[in-house]
Amino acid sequence: MKDSTGRGPLKKEELEALMEQARGAREKAYAPYSGFTVGAAVLSGSGEVFLAGNLENASYGLSVCAERNAITLMVASGRRDPVAMAIAGPEGVPCPPCGACRQVLAEFNPAMAIILEDGAGGFEVLSLEYLFPRPFRL
Ligand code: THU
Repeated sequence: MKDSTGRGPLKKEELEALMEQARGAREKAYAPYSGFTVGAAVLSGSGEVFLAGNLENASYGLSVCAERNAITLMVASGRRDPVAMAIAGPEGVPCPPCGACRQVLAEFNPAMAIILEDGAGGFEVLSLEYLFPRPFRL
């Protein structure tokens, strides 16, 4: 899978390692209401990886997905060049990003790689362009 930052193609081992980090990031989830813990690991062009889980609230609608928390952490840390994001739901369940997260991710790289569990212990790689072809732009 090629990225759009000049790093060159991501190797299978790099994709695998990112998914493993996303699985670990589920430990960071705060999801006492749904019990559905999600972990996200975003790789920036610098090679740094930012990890987050979903964060729920007693006022349910204020809950924030793992994907948006991870991208927020990346930008707050001074990076705006996501190359790839791995997303892990509970027990290998595929967890494609919701529509709101697709729009937020597309702001920084509409062609970034999205790595999802395949439901059989492995993963698949899709481009955000494929998942979200027409982001809103100003
Ligand atoms: N959630 C995520 O963190 N990422 C997704 O891609 C979909 C849903 C969270 C939101 C909420 O905390 C829980 O999963 C159940 O919807």
